[in-house]
Amino acid sequence: MSDPAASTPLAGRVIAVTGASRGIGLAIVELLARRGAVVLGGARSAPAAGIGGVQFMALDVTQETSVMAFADTAAALGVDALVNNAGVGSFASLERATVEDYRWMMDTNVLGTFLASKWFIPHFKRRHANGLASQVVNITSDVSDRTFASGGLYTASKHAQRALSRALAFEGRDYGLRVTEIRPGMTDTHFNHRVPGTPERAAHLRPGDIAHAVAQVLGAPSHLRVDEIVLHPVTQDIVF
Ligand SMILES: NC(=O)c1ccc[n+]([C@@H]2O[C@H](COP(=O)([O-])OP(=O)(O)OC[C@H]3O[C@@H](n4cnc5c(N)ncnc54)[C@H](OP(=O)(O)O)[C@@H]3O)[C@@H](O)[C@H]2O)c1
Repeated sequence: MSDPAASTPLAGRVIAVTGASRGIGLAIVELLARRGAVVLGGARSAPAAGIGGVQFMALDVTQETSVMAFADTAAALGVDALVNNAGVGSFASLERATVEDYRWMMDTNVLGTFLASKWFIPHFKRRHANGLASQVVNITSDVSDRTFASGGLYTASKHAQRALSRALAFEGRDYGLRVTEIRPGMTDTHFNHRVPGTPERAAHLRPGDIAHAVAQVLGAPSHLRVDEIVLHPVTQDIVF
């Protein structure tokens, strides 16, 4: 008898990933391609090196026409899962933060997640009409339900992404969509204008840690819905 908890293979799956040019998104597309998925990655810039098995296209998640073109390309490939990963952040007190900071984070993190979800939904509904299920994975943050000094704008955007994830989970039940929020803690990437690989960030999560969580969620058996996953480096404070 087959094991009902066994994961399903990713080979043959068709998965679209936003923010795929570096950091967490790049690790996600590399891992999914290695597992045999057909992968469409999007970002404003291309990855530094070509990645075997990944089709890459220019995408600005803040621009609706760009997101529509990305969704159309993904739909033509037969996409069955969307990973909303594109995101930006910087940290300043509310006194020092600017309207430009606000628009940059809200447009990329919130509008971007909204637009990508919106323009993939019609395709996921068509799949449902043909008896096929779909998945959305939103990379938010461990701060999507808390905040701290100088984190007001970034955490506001991540709280909003959490709300969008949950609203989509409710709505998507009608068309066979499973939605998962993945909430990483500190991860060693280019995030917040940093350079990855420096000694002070050696204890942070690696982009591949989040990529493996994404692969696990996408490979979960079809009867299993993973609502959220929180990932922290062991050195990070425990906050519940
Ligand atoms: N690093 C952390 O500590 C951490 C912790 C928790 C959550 N996160 C979340 O993880 C996600 C990925 O961040 P990261 O750490 O991997 O940062 P990163 O290394 O700076 O990568 C960010 C990615 O988002 C893309 N992006 C930015 N603006 C975009 C736009 N307008 N349209 C399309 N793509 C855009 C970037 O590509 P282009 O610039 O080429 O467009 C890049 O591929 C974000 O949502 C972030 O909030 C990060």
